[in-house]
Amino acid sequence: MLTAPPSNVSTPATGVLLPPHPLLGDYYTDEAGRLAQVRRWFDASAGNYDWVNTFMSFGSGVYYRTDALRRLGLGPGERLLDCGSGTGVIAAIAQGIVGATGLVVALDPSSGMLAQARSRGVLNLVPGRAERLPFADASFDRLTMGYALRHVADLGATFREYRRVLAPGGSLLLLEITRPRSRFGCAALRLYMRTLVPLVTRWFRHSRDTAALMRYYWDTIEHCVPPETILAALRAAGFEQVQRQAQLGVFSEYTALRPQQDQTDKSLEMEQQ
Ligand SMILES: C[S@@+](CC[C@H](N)C(=O)[O-])C[C@H]1O[C@@H](n2cnc3c(N)ncnc32)[C@H](O)[C@@H]1O
Repeated sequence: MLTAPPSNVSTPATGVLLPPHPLLGDYYTDEAGRLAQVRRWFDASAGNYDWVNTFMSFGSGVYYRTDALRRLGLGPGERLLDCGSGTGVIAAIAQGIVGATGLVVALDPSSGMLAQARSRGVLNLVPGRAERLPFADASFDRLTMGYALRHVADLGATFREYRRVLAPGGSLLLLEITRPRSRFGCAALRLYMRTLVPLVTRWFRHSRDTAALMRYYWDTIEHCVPPETILAALRAAGFEQVQRQAQLGVFSEYTALRPQQDQTDKSLEMEQQ
């Protein structure tokens, strides 16, 4: 069951609030309930997440993320923030690429997930949410977020924070799963992700919470705003070269650049002249 979008998130200057999906009434009744439920599920499922992810992606998850970071052009010495890092899969791969002269920070609101990331060898772990990042302006050259965008409260606030913490010229990579456009494709993926994956999770991991999280995972995909809305929100937050590449129409990669000179900087300069 769907209900109205949350109303208790800080409103940007434009007054527009953009949640990635409506409140899903089968799981919670308000934004506070959503926050509590999502955090509880991820904490409870942290020890199962890598297993489920490997099963769900037929073992291709680490390869796919590594390839995406290489295509992004990540190199030695760079500073990368991985938001919604979870068990730190992306952060650990990035650490290997940026090397000792670079910096990788993994951010996540779930302490259970951060503990898993620590045991994977991720060095810099920060509790927090994408909508309000505890970092100074222009702290990073790259920002990644893998499969966590559907859990933020407001896409506008999130993307404005991403632009703020990226240095001018810095780039963004968002990995997401997108609902297939065809009816058949959507039904097939729903059967796999909403029924089969939770069932197998119950059998092999004996966790009701993880099975419920995986059902919820699909529901957030099915009710997510379309890619065009995500692209428009990135542009509205001041990003340029905003693009989406999709593999099989389902595996979306959103990329964008923080301009070398922000529009606001340009306006200020013109005012001063
Ligand atoms: C599906 S996991 C993704 C893990 C990892 N990025 C990957 O590539 O597999 C989603 C993560 O998003 C985190 N999350 C939930 N709400 C968030 C928020 N508002 N900001 C940042 N991360 C959030 C969850 O705690 C969880 O660890």
